Amino acid sequence: MQKIALIGCGVVGQGLLKILRDKEEFLRDRYGFEIQLVAVSDKMKGSLMAENGIPLASFIDHLEAKKNIEEFKVDGATYGLDPLETIKRTSADTIVEVSFTDVKTGEPASTYFREAFKAGKNVATTNKGPSALFHRELAKLAEENGAFFKYEGTVMSGTPIFSLLDYALAGNKVTGVRGILNGTTNFILCKMESEGMPYQEALEMAQKLGYAEADPTADVEGFDAMAKVLILSNVVLGADLKAPDVDRKGISQITSQDIEQAAAEKKRYKLIGTTRIEGGKIVASVKPVKLPLSDPLAGVSGATNALTFETDLMGPVTIQGAGAGQIETGYSVLIDLLTIHRETTCFHDHGG
Ligand code: HSE
Repeated sequence: MQKIALIGCGVVGQGLLKILRDKEEFLRDRYGFEIQLVAVSDKMKGSLMAENGIPLASFIDHLEAKKNIEEFKVDGATYGLDPLETIKRTSADTIVEVSFTDVKTGEPASTYFREAFKAGKNVATTNKGPSALFHRELAKLAEENGAFFKYEGTVMSGTPIFSLLDYALAGNKVTGVRGILNGTTNFILCKMESEGMPYQEALEMAQKLGYAEADPTADVEGFDAMAKVLILSNVVLGADLKAPDVDRKGISQITSQDIEQAAAEKKRYKLIGTTRIEGGKIVASVKPVKLPLSDPLAGVSGATNALTFETDLMGPVTIQGAGAGQIETGYSVLIDLLTIHRETTCFHDHGG
């Protein structure tokens, strides 16, 4: 039984809880995987720590009724602990951190992670800030303390990037990565091209659909894709790049005329993130690129993401899938929790 504490109980946290509720039997029967939620702490919604477990189904109903977490009564529970106190006091093995990303400071999540690792607790997160800014330090701290640091949802939500490399593509050396890493901008560019929709209207639609970051500047100016390029550089290529090392440009200057002009040339604008080893150095960028329609990335539409890994044994390997969404990002945490389960127990897939 893996005990988890949830830090952040917004869209993604609730997505994970729904998956754990709906798949409880399947996950237990197929993988011997069982979870107990022992704490939840959210800066806006309050906190609850109940070491004998928080019942998932009734807790989700409570959240869906938009009630404060502290109004959910559990015998013997402790209320009012902030995330840091929760991490310090909980008996959870794994801290699931799904609060808002701040790609400029990586905080407060990075502080939470350091505290968790020092206490020997695993971290599973969808927060891009810590790995974009401090990956090397955090991964080392986790290792020194015998803890897992898992971050599948930081890039392409639950479309499996890091587990693909860690397991299915193990043994390859990756020399470069290139792809569409931001759903909001891809959605906006598609709407502008296919429906002639004005930029602002397309952005508002992406916000309504829940793809955009809390501050959509992070999407349209390329900061979100830059954070993902930093993560890929630092995790996959073993670099220690910082934001100024990435040549970044967003899509806010792309006009309807630019898009029409590209279409006339049988081309299409995409915001492309790249990181690759060139002459012994790592070269990373995020910028709008006018791709010929024959380029596979030109056909990736809507909020979908796609990524091509350049590998030494398999050549280019491309994966395409969701890059955002409640269930999709909640699922990324399930991948991480199952990986921790697999690595810490005698894991058997019972099939079926
Ligand atoms: N705002 C991000 C996007 C969400 O549009 O891709 C996932 O990181």
